[in-house]
Amino acid sequence: MRGVALAELHCHVEGALPVSLARELAVREGVDISALTDGERYLWHDFPGFLAAYGRATRLLRRPEDYARLAEMHLSAIAADGAIYAELFLAPDDATRAGMSYAACLEAVAEGAERARARSGIEVRLVPHILRQNGPEAALRATRTILAHPHPLVTGIGLAGDEREHLAAEFAPAFAMAAEAGLGCTAHAGEVCGPESVAHVLDALPVTRIGHGVAAAADPALMARLADEEIVLEVCPGSNVALGLFSDRAAHPLARLIAAGVRVTLNSDDPPFFGTSLAGEYRATAAALGLDAAGLTAFTRTAIEAAFVDEATRARLISRLAPVEPAPFRA
Ligand code: ADE
Ligand code: ZN
Repeated sequence: MRGVALAELHCHVEGALPVSLARELAVREGVDISALTDGERYLWHDFPGFLAAYGRATRLLRRPEDYARLAEMHLSAIAADGAIYAELFLAPDDATRAGMSYAACLEAVAEGAERARARSGIEVRLVPHILRQNGPEAALRATRTILAHPHPLVTGIGLAGDEREHLAAEFAPAFAMAAEAGLGCTAHAGEVCGPESVAHVLDALPVTRIGHGVAAAADPALMARLADEEIVLEVCPGSNVALGLFSDRAAHPLARLIAAGVRVTLNSDDPPFFGTSLAGEYRATAAALGLDAAGLTAFTRTAIEAAFVDEATRARLISRLAPVEPAPFRA
């Protein structure tokens, strides 16, 4: 995206695993993934199938250096496209299932992020997330582990996984602990479930952001609430279309959310699963909504305003954006 600084708040490091690297790891691990992949994409048919394919691909990440390589590859690629800031989700439960400690996985992702930063200048923060389908007890365990290993790059906590399982309120104790420790809070909601799922998160969890949240577009009162409470949505249009939530980008509610005053950002979610990229989301949104560079920079500005960073870092990142043009004088 020439001339436009990009920022991303919603990408899962495991979900960024390029198929080429997955194939290399599969050979090393003696696993056949030919039925899982086609070209540079993973194969799946619906949301449960996506989660299953995601689990199979994630299980190939067995060593800390796998995570370090993956993080460096992904962050270097988006930096080359103009990204100045990125947050990466990571799932401690997935790392421990592979026999790694959370600390080793975290250090590896941080090392990959540092290598990408040294090369490109991209600023990175890490947001470990708990998995809904593992339930509230596992969430408490994961949160205690996250808090027992504070790291300067870990500035937030998230909730992801199967939105159809468990109520948001069941995760309130875990989120309360994380918020008390100073972590920013975000939760996936209103992706495969309806607007009530977004409302449940807003009622139960101390979030400033919602992952997806696009189902809110079906409920004008909820959109007004999101706008009033200045909740930022991490919108992933390409992911939503790939999952069949909307037939195409023209049917996606991004424009309706913006018109209702909801603050939105653009994100890739899980690039090789959905055929997305951060720059691709900016480009496709420019085409769908008829936006120029200034219109696109507004998404980046919102992302940096909502980023889980200290205020000095936020100011430095904002200073790298093109200034907002003054509104034309009207008599
Ligand atoms: N984990 C990775 N991608 C996800 C998505 N789109 N929804 C829920 N959990 C996820
Ligand atoms: Zn996601």
